Amino acid sequence: MKTIVTGSSGLLGRHVAEALVAAGHDVRGIDAVAPGEVTWRHATADLTDLGSALQLVRDCDAVIHVAAIPRPTGRAGGEVFKTNVATAYNVVEAAVMAGTRRFVYASSFSVFGYPFFEKPVRPPYLPVDMNHPIGAQDPYGLSKWLGEEIVDAAVRRGAFSAVSIRMPWIQTPQSFFAGVGPRRATADSARDLWSYLDARDTGQGFLRALQWKGDGHLRVLLSAADTFMEEETESLVRRVYPGVALSRPIAGYGAVLDTIHARETIGFEPSHSWRSYPKPESGK
Ligand SMILES: NC(=O)c1ccc[n+]([C@@H]2O[C@H](COP(=O)([O-])OP(=O)(O)OC[C@H]3O[C@@H](n4cnc5c(N)ncnc54)[C@H](O)[C@@H]3O)[C@@H](O)[C@H]2O)c1
Repeated sequence: MKTIVTGSSGLLGRHVAEALVAAGHDVRGIDAVAPGEVTWRHATADLTDLGSALQLVRDCDAVIHVAAIPRPTGRAGGEVFKTNVATAYNVVEAAVMAGTRRFVYASSFSVFGYPFFEKPVRPPYLPVDMNHPIGAQDPYGLSKWLGEEIVDAAVRRGAFSAVSIRMPWIQTPQSFFAGVGPRRATADSARDLWSYLDARDTGQGFLRALQWKGDGHLRVLLSAADTFMEEETESLVRRVYPGVALSRPIAGYGAVLDTIHARETIGFEPSHSWRSYPKPESGK
């Protein structure tokens, strides 16, 4: 299948492109920065420019839109919002004009409001599933939600079928202990709902989304099978969210993002856990 992956020089895009190449897809990457040596063809372009998107997103069976600024911190909120919404609109529009039949969009669990809220978001129940209310407060979460809605508008026009994939913090064995490690000791870890997803499992999730046989716009939530914490989940929930009901028991370190819907629709099964990542030698 001829598949275009935007954002293919970044963390998620590289893992998605690698998984697709390994599965036999003819991958073309588009990103604002060159990727170095990779096994797929690449074009460098700023996708906030509609003309560039129209020229480059063509002659393909599927488009996977990953390119975005992945957090609202360290930049002006307006730039994050403008970049993410403009790239989503331009890539969707170019995919429609190219006659693409399948679109996959990298969304985020930030559409629920986590982890960048100003006024705390309290889950109505746990584990969080796709019935959780939409509640973005920050420019990034809002841009990811509007991205899903831009995809939805194209699906309503009958342009293509689509899958939007909501993900928590993406991690690798190289990033985990330095990135998540210190946060685990702070109350801010609850902002993430103690959730993460191994980058290799994202590759599998996006591949499965491409193979989805349904029509319309499917929105799914992915997560690792466990939390990033060393305290068992039910104890964490009782301590941090007293009074929030569990809709089912959560055994051991089980995740508080529910992936049953993703398993039933696209066949997603997480297979990597930080618990088997090699520990850094210095104990950092
Ligand atoms: N990193 C996470 O924890 C996480 C979690 C959930 C969802 N996501 C989503 O996954 C996607 C990728 O995140 P990431 O962590 O790989 O980020 P990243 O910064 O590593 O990669 C994003 C890529 O998009 C490219 N890009 C940005 N603006 C562009 C533009 N105007 N034109 C062309 N390319 C542009 C960047 O150059 C970069 O290579 C984003 O859509 C993000 O919202 C990320």
